[in-house]
Amino acid sequence: MSSSKNFLIVLTILIISTSCVFSFTLECKFDDYLYEKNYKCDVEKLSVTTHNQIVSDVSGLHIPRRTNADVIILSIDGQTAHYLPQGLDKFFPNVIYLNINKSGLKEITKNDLKNFPKLRNIAVRGNDIESLPSDLFEYNPEITNIGFASNKIKSIGKDIFKSLNNLESVNLLRNTCISQQSNNRSEIAEMMKNANECFQ
Ligand SMILES: *[C@@H]1O[C@H](CO)[C@@H](O)[C@H](O)[C@H]1NC(C)=O
Ligand SMILES: *[C@@H]1O[C@H](CO)[C@@H](O)[C@H](O)[C@H]1NC(C)=O
Repeated sequence: MSSSKNFLIVLTILIISTSCVFSFTLECKFDDYLYEKNYKCDVEKLSVTTHNQIVSDVSGLHIPRRTNADVIILSIDGQTAHYLPQGLDKFFPNVIYLNINKSGLKEITKNDLKNFPKLRNIAVRGNDIESLPSDLFEYNPEITNIGFASNKIKSIGKDIFKSLNNLESVNLLRNTCISQQSNNRSEIAEMMKNANECFQ
């Protein structure tokens, strides 16, 4: 009797733990952006409203002789992505440019960006981000351009940009604690020196 009881307990734990993780197929419209070295996945029909959603497969028609590994631009534009799904690195290990436009993104963490080790350009425009933690770019040392215009940012880690040696521009226009952009390193340093309202 007690072993069947144990079995039931194990089964219940299994059901509860698996129900918190969802895997799904990411749908892409693949295309060359501007010229052929810029292979792009334009994500379609995406709906992510909870944490821990995992991409288990990618669908979409590739341009002849191209594969997922050729994708350097990942664009989530006009979708529903309250959080970034996990597992994208398994399919798109070479993403340099991440665009998340008007998709209701609420938060972004260093673990989300860990999936993009070659990331150089991130544009998160018109979303609902409230905070940029100081360790956000810990796994993205190559980053050159950062854009979070038109979000709801009210807190920023004070040293967030300090160790990013290749950084060229930061756009923080139209946020709650700041509305400014900077196009070189000294401007970025100056902007951060004066962003007191963002340091809580
Ligand atoms: C972002 O979305 C807006 C509104 O749909 C659109 O006008 C704009 O071109 C988009 N920008 C990018 C960079 O995708
Ligand atoms: C940074 O940009 C500002 C404004 O465009 C300019 O005045 C300044 O000379 C630039 N500084 C450097 C180091 O390039």
